[in-house]
Amino acid sequence: MPAVSETRVGVLISGRGSNMASLIEAAAQPGYPAEIVTVISNKADAGGLVRAEEAGIDTVVIDHKAHADRASFDAALDAALEEAKVELVCLAGFMRLLTPGFTEKWRGRMINIHPALLPSFRGLHTHERALEAGVKIHGCTVHFVTPEMDVGPIIMQAAVPVLEGDTAELLAARVLAQEHIIYPAALRLICEGRARIEGERVVVDEFEVAERALVAPGI
Ligand code: GAR
Repeated sequence: MPAVSETRVGVLISGRGSNMASLIEAAAQPGYPAEIVTVISNKADAGGLVRAEEAGIDTVVIDHKAHADRASFDAALDAALEEAKVELVCLAGFMRLLTPGFTEKWRGRMINIHPALLPSFRGLHTHERALEAGVKIHGCTVHFVTPEMDVGPIIMQAAVPVLEGDTAELLAARVLAQEHIIYPAALRLICEGRARIEGERVVVDEFEVAERALVAPGI
C-alpha cells in the first residue's frame, strides 16, 4: 500500500475534549489525511486528557499557573508542539488567550472551533447571548487563528435553528453535535490542500452543497 502522507496535528484543550475526541475518531479512519500526535492541556484535570490517553495519544500538561506570564506559557506550548513535530494546531475548547507572537508563528497552521456563527458572538457565553439577541439561527465556525480572538479566516460553518423554549444548554447541545461534524471535515479540507487563505477569506476547492436553506421558524 502506498504511504499516505498524514499531517501531524497537535490538539490543545482545556476541558472535556469532545471536539478533540471527534478529531481523534476521524483520524483513526483509513484514508483520513491527519494524525493526532499530541494533545496538550493547560489544565491537569481536563477530562479530555483521559480520552486521549485511552486512544494511545501522547499527552502533555502545561499548567498556565506555573508560568509568570503569557509569553512564557506560550513559549512552553511552542516547545511542546515542536518537540512533537506538529505541523498543524487544532484548538478544541482551549480557553487561553494566545500571544500575538505565538499566533503569528503558527499563522495559517492553527485552527479553532468557535460555538457561534462568526462574526456574530465572538468570545464567551455564545449560546446565552444568541438567546438574548433573539436570533433564529445559530451555529458554529471553524476558522484560522489570527492574533485577534475569533476573527481569522472562516473555513467552515454549520447552522442550527433556535427553537422556542430553548435553554442555553439545549442550544449548546444542538450546536455541539454540528461542531463534531464540521471540525473533522474542515481539518480534512486543510490537510488535503483544498482550503487555502486568500486575504481575509478561505477559498475552498469544489465541494458539494445542499442548496436547501435552513429557515427558522420553518415555513
Ligand atoms: C466547544 O463548544 C467549543 O466550541 C468551545 O468550547 C467547547 C469545548 O467543548 N470553544 C470555545 O468557546 C473557544 N472560545 P469540548 O471540550 O467538549 O470540545
